[in-house]
Amino acid sequence: MIAFRQTYLIEKGEMSMRKCLVMFIMICLTTLFCFNSSHGGWEKCKVCHNGRTAPDEKSLKTKYQTADELIKGAKGSLNPIMKNYKGDEELKEAANDLGLK
Ligand code: HEC
Repeated sequence: MIAFRQTYLIEKGEMSMRKCLVMFIMICLTTLFCFNSSHGGWEKCKVCHNGRTAPDEKSLKTKYQTADELIKGAKGSLNPIMKNYKGDEELKEAANDLGLK
């Protein structure tokens, strides 16, 4: 009976360890997800807007002086590669990161 209780307790302990681990992983993933989505901003655009694939920071800032202009420009781009990057929020964040008002 004592032995049974001991294994029971050990099993319970392992369960909560596993739960902790799962919680920990969940927190990591959530943090990572939040980090990626809310701190994307210009970082997300930089992949292509490097001066080779698409105009870089400097040339975009020369062409567009305000956030509104940049957003309009991005939305108006006919290039199919830009198609997935026309969300209001992400464009606003990117414009903000570029220092446009
Ligand atoms: C997957 C690659 C890619 C990503 C990511 C991307 N773009 Fe673009 N973007 C392009 C390409 C390609 C063009 C077309 C360039 C051209 O016409 O010379 C373009 C065009 C533009 C233009 C118009 C440029 C012009 O000359 O008028 C703007 C503004 C723009 N992007 C803003 C953004 C912003 C802001 C983001 C981030 C939210 C972003 N792009 C993310 C590839 C990308």
